[in-house]
Amino acid sequence: MKLSSPRGTADIYGEDIDYRNFIINTARKIFEIFNYSEIITPAFEYTQVFSRSIGEGTDIVQKEMYTFMDRKGRSLTLRPEGTASIVRAVIENKIYSENMPLKLFYIGNMFRYERPQKGRMREFWQLGIESIGTDNPVIDAEVIWILNSFFKKLGFKKLILLVNSMGCSRCREKFLAEFKKYIKPELGKLCSDCQNRFEKNPLRVFDCKKNSCRSILDSSPEVSSYLCSECKENFKEVLECLKILKIKYRTDKNLVRGFDYYTKTIFEIISEDLYSAQNALGGGGRYDNLINQLGGPELPATGFAVGIDRTMMLMKQLNLKFTKLARKSRVYLIAMNKNCQIYSLDILKYLREMEVICDINFNNKNLKKEIKWAKDNNYDFIIIIGEDEINSGSLTIKDIKKFKQYKVDWKNQKDKIIEIIGANDYD
Ligand code: HAM
Repeated sequence: MKLSSPRGTADIYGEDIDYRNFIINTARKIFEIFNYSEIITPAFEYTQVFSRSIGEGTDIVQKEMYTFMDRKGRSLTLRPEGTASIVRAVIENKIYSENMPLKLFYIGNMFRYERPQKGRMREFWQLGIESIGTDNPVIDAEVIWILNSFFKKLGFKKLILLVNSMGCSRCREKFLAEFKKYIKPELGKLCSDCQNRFEKNPLRVFDCKKNSCRSILDSSPEVSSYLCSECKENFKEVLECLKILKIKYRTDKNLVRGFDYYTKTIFEIISEDLYSAQNALGGGGRYDNLINQLGGPELPATGFAVGIDRTMMLMKQLNLKFTKLARKSRVYLIAMNKNCQIYSLDILKYLREMEVICDINFNNKNLKKEIKWAKDNNYDFIIIIGEDEINSGSLTIKDIKKFKQYKVDWKNQKDKIIEIIGANDYD
């Protein structure tokens, strides 16, 4: 049997690694500016961590989790998202005893058993933040601000930020009563999945992407019309902060996210250039009850996650450029035979000790091919080592970008090599 990667997974290499590193480095820089520190949690958890936080009736818990029994019969699940794991970690390690809000960020692979298509994978990568311990609406705005700054820094110009409020549990109850009243007579027209959802968790009907269901939902009551005065005021304050920060947004009364834990302000960042159904690059919102529900103290929280694969896909599609961080000159040694290769070890050792990015030809091709390879692979300098170089003890350093060359006495003028290479730092 020919071996292949499992459906819905991808190997990431070559230029994609440069895109991905650019995305991650940009995020790390912004997270640091906003005072977030990193947290790493396991890629799998006890299943309950997810079923209790995301919600039993959600699509993710119902049919998208990679759940398996370990050898001792314990049910484990590959994480479908990061928030639940981080909440579990915060409670377990009592990280909340530190100064609030606790600002954490994470980068990791997530797993959802979805039908793979462009921009939707079974293993995908997310980066995200969670701000835990304050219900101040300014922090909702700050979280959105971070998301917005991140995409701006990557070079996106036309993204759309959707915001809505889900209200607190009291608002939700009032809304659900009205929603049920509206849907009941239409129930027969909904798809079988939605009929099921309606029984178990009516809000989840909003997750349906089928046109027939969407058209019924289009004229349904909206959760934001049932906000209590406190939640209304809270949402108004978040929007005011966004205005002060000059962050453009669209309120979308139909925005309901696919997890049960959300309360109050939720948001999504979408692109009209992305494949229609999978147009969200990132999303998040407040989850004021989750930490308490999972056995922790009453700690209101909010956060977001961004899909790294989707962001990378759209950057490539829109031809957005990535920059490598402070790229140093790269040196390629070409040894003409085995003897020259052995001689070159000393030179390589010196260059690497001086932290110069360098490599050597391990398989001997002809000189012309080696030089072409060095040019194609973004090297800046080549040093050719032949018998002549060994006998004379000198080296010729060729700058293949600026077409200059320098002669250096290898034994007595080592420093000069660094001078030449260092003077040509490419950013
Ligand atoms: P989410 O909206 O489920 O939120 O995921 C965030 C982002 O992950 C999506 O906007 C999308 O870009 C990417 N994504 C999701 N599923 C896939 C997939 N199958 N293939 C490729 N990319 C995907 C969360 O996960 C929440 N934990 C966000 C959050 C943090 N809320 C509060 N704090």
